[in-house]
Amino acid sequence: MKKPFLLVANLKMNLLSRDEVKQYLQVLHRESEGKRITQAEVIMCPPILWLNEFNHLPEAFHKGAQNVFWEKSGSYTGEISPVMLKNDGIEYVLIGHSERRLYAGETNDIVRTKTHSALKNLLMPIVCIGESEEERRRGMTHSALEIQLEGIFSGLSKLQAEKVIIAYEPRWAIGSDRTPTTEEIREVKNLIQNYLTKHLDEGTAERIRVLYGGSVKSAYLGAVSWEAGMDGVLVGRESLFPYEIVKMLGLYEQYQLAIS
Ligand code: PGA
Repeated sequence: MKKPFLLVANLKMNLLSRDEVKQYLQVLHRESEGKRITQAEVIMCPPILWLNEFNHLPEAFHKGAQNVFWEKSGSYTGEISPVMLKNDGIEYVLIGHSERRLYAGETNDIVRTKTHSALKNLLMPIVCIGESEEERRRGMTHSALEIQLEGIFSGLSKLQAEKVIIAYEPRWAIGSDRTPTTEEIREVKNLIQNYLTKHLDEGTAERIRVLYGGSVKSAYLGAVSWEAGMDGVLVGRESLFPYEIVKMLGLYEQYQLAIS
């Protein structure tokens, strides 16, 4: 079955009050009114405090958390259990975002532990991988990505593996208004696909969705996603504008119409 195009909206640490959240959601509902989304799915990832405010979303929109801990319960001050998320109706969770690697010291090992725990607790992890500027400059993009893929997938069954969503986010592209070329993204997509085929099998590799993230804008949505063979996008700053989210969904619908 064809995978629907996926747009993950990472609202990061924004929307500072309940009033701001309400306004944001009002605009989102207004912008999406009357626009049928048939070919895509959206996962809204607001700050954890506001997740319940996002209960009533337009059709085809789901909710995700921006972080999760690996233990189920206990003395882990400030952490959020995967069971809490699941019990509260959350389906998806972002893991290993480069901002968490940078500011919260998350390593590949932590990302692996969190990913495996999320899967055991029936959450679908959106796991971020990406090379640093230095790694890219030294021609180490592929080896850096392979190490991260190895961390995520080793020890997972095929059934677990196909629930993972990979977000390829070059670290230097996040928040920078710089993006790789379509060709560079396609190369990484092929690398990921080959890795997954080799370590799992072709069918499982096909079912795993691979997204591009890092300074995504509607102006060049196609170039960083479908033209590069990606299954969707992870959108940061632009997702603070509901108009942009709806515009991107519309562009994908138009593309689908054009090729059908
Ligand atoms: P950005 O963020 O779109 O603001 O670069 C991307 C992300 O959250 O990974």
